[in-house]
Amino acid sequence: MTVGVVAEANTNIALVKYWGKNDEEYNLPAVPSLSLTLQGLRTRTEVRLDPALPADRLLLNESDVTGEPLAKVSRHLDRVARFLGVSDRPRAWVRSDNNFPTAAGLASSASAFAALSVAAAGALRPGFVLDDVSRAQLAVLARQGSGSAARSLYGGIVLLGTGTPGQCDSARATPVLGTDDWPDLRMVIGVASEAAKDTGSTDGMRHTAATSPYFAPFVAAAPTDLRQAMAAVKARDLVALGAVVERSALRMHASALAADPAVVYLRGATIEGLHALRSLRARGVAAYFTCDAGPHPKALTTARDADAVAAALAAVPGVLRTLVAAPGPGARLIEAGAQ
Ligand code: DP6
Repeated sequence: MTVGVVAEANTNIALVKYWGKNDEEYNLPAVPSLSLTLQGLRTRTEVRLDPALPADRLLLNESDVTGEPLAKVSRHLDRVARFLGVSDRPRAWVRSDNNFPTAAGLASSASAFAALSVAAAGALRPGFVLDDVSRAQLAVLARQGSGSAARSLYGGIVLLGTGTPGQCDSARATPVLGTDDWPDLRMVIGVASEAAKDTGSTDGMRHTAATSPYFAPFVAAAPTDLRQAMAAVKARDLVALGAVVERSALRMHASALAADPAVVYLRGATIEGLHALRSLRARGVAAYFTCDAGPHPKALTTARDADAVAAALAAVPGVLRTLVAAPGPGARLIEAGAQ
């Protein structure tokens, strides 16, 4: 008999960016980050243990995946099994679907490792319950798969701390605001490409940290960015939050651009998107730019202004379509049972 367990997790976009690590082995971030979990952009993952299977199998959006992505999933299953005290775990079928572009800088690894952590725990431990304690533990495990994944265990606005090198559970995710605590927030995404990015965030941040003279100043500025963003979040002050959001993203990209050779995620559509948002703002529309390890211009805005912001981004050459997301929920177990 095999047990199939399904979990879902939504992606998140950082308001204060994580970029760089202070411990590669445990994947501890060099800077604290703050994120918004997004409604509607989710990964759904099933883990089904199969003692008859000679090796783990990964189906991503219905395609068989091998090589390093499969190896990362296998290592993560091992990590969850080790944590649960399961020795000699059975091999697993892992079937995962995203309802948004994969690996194009929409932080699909965040929702992927969050959903995988929950589904794996459910499959490896019959009767597993996702409560406050296990959620916090799974966030530590998810972080080792991908730093931003720790934040997708929680809904709303989430803080991920920096770690102490050598201490695996030292960088933890903490919910700051629940999904319903600032319902007026919106994130608008201008999808500028459906293709996978050239340089993944792990490589991009490693190379930035190793070669960019602007990386140390980025790290030094992060605690102030975080403090100001936290105060703005607590006061529900979008103007103050937006200022930090825009400068944190631009400082992250500035550090990447100064790497040698440069790490360039920005495209024409990204920069034109930034200008479009700034001119909207000059006309009284709430619109604050952000961008991750991909070309998509994104904007933090309000429910009232989301349509205007989406229309402005849709008019930027190179933007293919737009997505609008409200604050979304944390990772959840969907179904678990014997098959
Ligand atoms: C630009 O979490 O993908 O999206 O820990 O190496 O897997 P790894 O990195 P990842 O990096 C996210 C970088 C970012 C900013 C952010 O989400 O904070």
